Amino acid sequence: METGTPSLFQLVISITERCNLSCPNCYGKKEEPKSLSLHDINNLLENTKDMGIIDVSLTGGEPLLHEQITEIISLIGSYGYNVHLATNGTITPPQSLIDKILKDRIKISVQVAVYGHRDIHDAWVGLDGSYDTVLENISLLKNVNIPLSITFVATKENFHYIKSLSDPFNDLPININRHICNDKNLELTKEELREICDFVQENSGIRMFCEPLFNTLLIDKASEKLSGYDIRGGCIAGVASATLDPNKEVYPCPKLRISCGNISETPFLEIWQNSRILNMLRDRKNIKVCSDCLYRNVCGGCRASAYLKTGDYLAQDPQCWLK
Ligand SMILES: C[S@@+](CC[C@H](N)C(=O)[O-])C[C@H]1O[C@@H](n2cnc3c(N)ncnc32)[C@H](O)[C@@H]1O
Ligand code: SF4
Ligand code: SF4
Repeated sequence: METGTPSLFQLVISITERCNLSCPNCYGKKEEPKSLSLHDINNLLENTKDMGIIDVSLTGGEPLLHEQITEIISLIGSYGYNVHLATNGTITPPQSLIDKILKDRIKISVQVAVYGHRDIHDAWVGLDGSYDTVLENISLLKNVNIPLSITFVATKENFHYIKSLSDPFNDLPININRHICNDKNLELTKEELREICDFVQENSGIRMFCEPLFNTLLIDKASEKLSGYDIRGGCIAGVASATLDPNKEVYPCPKLRISCGNISETPFLEIWQNSRILNMLRDRKNIKVCSDCLYRNVCGGCRASAYLKTGDYLAQDPQCWLK
């Protein structure tokens, strides 16, 4: 790795754009869906094997709809990486996959997306009965001791449900994820996001997922962590993580859809080292407003939210309540 280039801690692979559901504002599903082949994924893993990867996250579309999902997870497991599977929970994992995970002791965790109680959830994903199917699949995975978590994407419409979310899921960890959109009816205000973060801070078992602004509540202003320009946390897009999509485009994060290059033309490592976009994200002096903020090293705002709202990935996070 070239001096100064950070390690790629987390590689996110969108393995297919196919999906059986129709969640509003989803960035992953496409009308004419494409998928990566097992061969593509094998090449990617070979070409990135010295980049410091620890976690490989599989997303989409719905990754469990990929015809070679068992082979893909088995391949990633053979590299010794932690596999993280994001699923909508409505597709029952094939028995061959469960057998393989257990037999080869693949280090896997599964996150299941939930949007509210039964009626809200089914209406959001556009499929009656899906909430109950999610509960059945959660039970199935729990019974074979596969680590699970719930992801709750918080919108203006559903965020009040967070307070009663733990009831149906008992002891499962719950991660709250800000819905990234530019729709006044769904987009959280700064105040609503702050209310959610305050609630999470007071309640164990619930965490914020990929929420740089939450860190500003955890870190003491006087801490030495706030001095200088070294990134210590917050938005990991391009800093510790990159995403490959089925068109072989490299993005800083699945939600930040600006291409940094295509691996059909340029090797992944070269894109990771040389992309102007990725290099801009690695220096928080470049981020408007954050550059003068005490919390820049632990936050940096959500770059995807800034980009969707303004078309500028270095703009202020529209939900930043500090400035
Ligand atoms: C794109 S989905 C793909 C994996 C799987 N189909 C699922 O639904 O979990 C991955 C995660 O992104 C979330 N997501 C989709 N659109 C989003 C958006 N605009 N903002 C924030 N999260 C979003 C989903 O709720 C899900 O938790
Ligand atoms: S299930 Fe996942 S991929 Fe499918 S539409 Fe919903 S968020 Fe998007
Ligand atoms: S752009 Fe937003 S969603 Fe993507 S890594 Fe940064 S904080 Fe997370």
